[in-house]
Amino acid sequence: MTTSPQPNLRQAAERVLLGNWIGHSTVPSRSLYPHQWSWDSAFIAIGLRHLSPRRAQVELESLLGSQWADGRIPHISFSPAVARDAYFPGPDFWQASTAGGVETSGIIQPPVHALAAWLTHRADEAESVRRGFLARIYPKLVAWHTYLRTRRDLGGRGLVAIVHPWESGMDNSPAWDAALARVTPAPLDSFTRRDTDHASTTDRPTDLDYGRYVQLAATYRDHGYDDSRTPFEFALEDPAFNALLITSEHALADIAEALGLDPAHHLKAAEELTGALGALFSEGLFHARDLRGEGLVDAGTISGLIPLIVPELPQATELLATARGERFGLGRVHLVPSYDLTGPEFERKRYWRGPSWFNTAWLIHRGLVCRGEQELADKLRADLLELAGSTDFAEYVDPYDGSPRGAQTFSWTAALALDLLSCS
Ligand code: SER
Repeated sequence: MTTSPQPNLRQAAERVLLGNWIGHSTVPSRSLYPHQWSWDSAFIAIGLRHLSPRRAQVELESLLGSQWADGRIPHISFSPAVARDAYFPGPDFWQASTAGGVETSGIIQPPVHALAAWLTHRADEAESVRRGFLARIYPKLVAWHTYLRTRRDLGGRGLVAIVHPWESGMDNSPAWDAALARVTPAPLDSFTRRDTDHASTTDRPTDLDYGRYVQLAATYRDHGYDDSRTPFEFALEDPAFNALLITSEHALADIAEALGLDPAHHLKAAEELTGALGALFSEGLFHARDLRGEGLVDAGTISGLIPLIVPELPQATELLATARGERFGLGRVHLVPSYDLTGPEFERKRYWRGPSWFNTAWLIHRGLVCRGEQELADKLRADLLELAGSTDFAEYVDPYDGSPRGAQTFSWTAALALDLLSCS
């Protein structure tokens, strides 16, 4: 299925990252996403550290510059250099905090940041110490995790809840269908999508999805983004979001130790979250829990496999068997599909309803290495590198034929290819 990566893949990946750099951060895509996105920046820093450890630090520092007083890291930091209507929903829609002088959205994305900060530090410890990188970033990351574990424990079971599909980063995942079906969509003539100017409509979420996304975001906005006051119609505990928080708590423990601080409370948080995550496990896979619906959601998605990155995961053996089975076809299809290949909603082209993504493949690769599954990990790495080059760093690919979908010269695809090239 795979061959050796192109000899010039490293230079090509570096070119994408340099081309998408806007002076203090990296846009995910010049066309489709022309601002700074939260979890994109974290994945981008993980690759950028091999090109310029200092730029990787600046990427994360600039993102944290837009952190809100309550600790949340907004999912978009808007670039003042870009036309206000270049992206929808833009700053005029969100009307959110301008902490740090930056206009932002009001929702969040998965917490990959502490992991990215730790890996960035490790890339050049002398430079990191010289710039006081960890010391400056640590309290902000602690405030971020505290926001998540307190204000966002909406179910009271020790797990973080997302309140908008965009917060999962996996916008139109079939896992959100039942919860979204309860939301009355905003009228289609009340907003103008900009995403379909840059990507095929068959690769993107539908208009009906967008109407519901807009309605949910407007309700949160109209309640001042106040988690205790907003009547959330959409509230789910997502396995990937919580697994990334656990991994980032372990990273915070490493950061605390490097700063000569006691890591114990981060390790305790990781242990508590890992215990709570177990309640989302059913029939070999982790499932989202719908706090406004009927408990665990049936749909099997890539989110349910991401806990493979969690150290000391009691369910790891069963989870690995599911990854290798017919539902996700690990090692037999390209990367790892975003949704169960045998599921009724599977669509091979449409965003998070089937296509394979490079960031989730990178996470699964990390999980396989940490579980000692070297052969499978090597195969996934080779496939990721091959596809990154052959698709000109596509945003996502068809899991069956590897054809490119969504945007191209996509930053985290280039960054994560660079990371795997550098960490062979
Ligand atoms: N992922 C969303 C988009 O497609 C928003 O963060 O625009």
